[in-house]
Formats: sequence, structure tokens, C-alpha cells
Amino acid sequence: MNDKQRVAHYAAQQVQNGMVVGLGTGSTANFFIEELARRQSEENLKFKVVSSSVVSANKAKQLGLALLGIEHIDGLDLYVDGADEVAPDLTLLKGRGYDLVREKLLAKAADSFLVLIDASKRVKRIGENFPIPIEVSPFAWRLVQRSVAAIGGHGNLRQTPNQDGLVVTSHGSLVLDVAFEPNLDGKALNERLNAIPGIVEHGIFSGLTRAVFCGHDGKVDEQW
Ligand code: A5P
Repeated sequence: MNDKQRVAHYAAQQVQNGMVVGLGTGSTANFFIEELARRQSEENLKFKVVSSSVVSANKAKQLGLALLGIEHIDGLDLYVDGADEVAPDLTLLKGRGYDLVREKLLAKAADSFLVLIDASKRVKRIGENFPIPIEVSPFAWRLVQRSVAAIGGHGNLRQTPNQDGLVVTSHGSLVLDVAFEPNLDGKALNERLNAIPGIVEHGIFSGLTRAVFCGHDGKVDEQW
């Protein structure tokens, strides 16, 4: 069992009968979904799920989990997802996938947002390893690019892996991947990006994390 699997199995123990559980997206979230399915069939655990992406929704359906539409819930007990970077104050970078809007919506709505990582995700500052993904309305991207440049950010529209088109999120947005000066910390950047018109959502998750579970060297550390 690798660290991602271990931490996913550990987090699945947090799910109790009757809960509505948000499913994240990515390889760690996939392990979590599989373990929930195992608990449902082997332990008769009863719960419902809501998904942050089409990919996770399909996986949940295939495994027989009871899936609710995000538009039909008015809250959830737990949201469990991975992250791309985690800073010491539990600010996150997320959204290397295409479902940033749903991910942040669920993180905010959940009574408890648990983040599952391995040690490779820990950073000193948000933006250390990846640019910040910024979802923009297609017609707004040039003006947003100009606004982020004014606060020290430089980047371009994300292209498809073959570089033959632009990435469009499941929400219909384009994505600007923007690198910022290292002197801007995640919290400050979050506030500045929140104030720019035309940004649909961005990948800094500030003040949303309840706990980070980190799998490393065969064990799991909790940071609350
Ligand atoms: C999805 O948009 C991201 O925010 C993921 O949560 C992130 O990429 C984690 O992926 P892994 O669990 O595969 O590392």
C-alpha cells in the first residue's frame, strides 16, 4: 500500500452512518472512493455522496454509491479531497484538474474539509511548485491577465496536452496559469484575486481546511 492509499483508507474511517460526503478528484480521492465502497459492502455503512467532478461521479456510480446532485444538497458533513500544495498554515493550492468551482463550493459548504496528501505536497509557500490556476470567463481573459499582471502575476492560458487547443473547464471557463512573485503569501494573494472581476474561481483555498492528513513513511500524520 502506498502513502496515498494509506491516507485515503485512514480518512474513510471518518465517515459515519447517515453522512453526506463530498468526493474530491484525483488519485488520492479515487482511493478514498474505493475504500468507501468497500465499507459500504463489507460493513453495511450507509451514507450518500456528492461529487466535485464528473470523473469522481462516474467512479462513485460504478461502485454503487448513492450519488446526490450538487444542486440538490443544502450542505454536507464531510468533504475529502487531495491538494497540489499545502502551506504550513493549511492554505492549499488546488485545481490542476478542471473542476475548481465545484471543489471550492464543496470545501466551503462542508462542516469539515479534510485534505489528503503525501509528503511531496508540503511547501513553504503556495505557488512554490505550480502556477496558480485561475478560471476566467472566456470573454474576460485578457482583462483578467492585465489585472493579475498589476499585482505581480504572469501567465498564459492553459493549453491541451497536445498544445492544439485551450483547456475548457467543466464549468465552461478558460484557465490562466499564473506565477506570482515569491513575496506574496497565499492568504494575501487569495484576497487580491478575490477582488478581481472576471475571475470565476482560483486555486488558492484559504481558511477552508479543517485538517490535513499526510501519509509518509508508512504512517499518517494529522494536522488540525
Ligand atoms: C484536482 O483539481 C486537484 O485539486 C487534486 O485534488 C489534486 O491534483 C490532487 O491529486 P492527487 O491526489 O492525484 O495527487
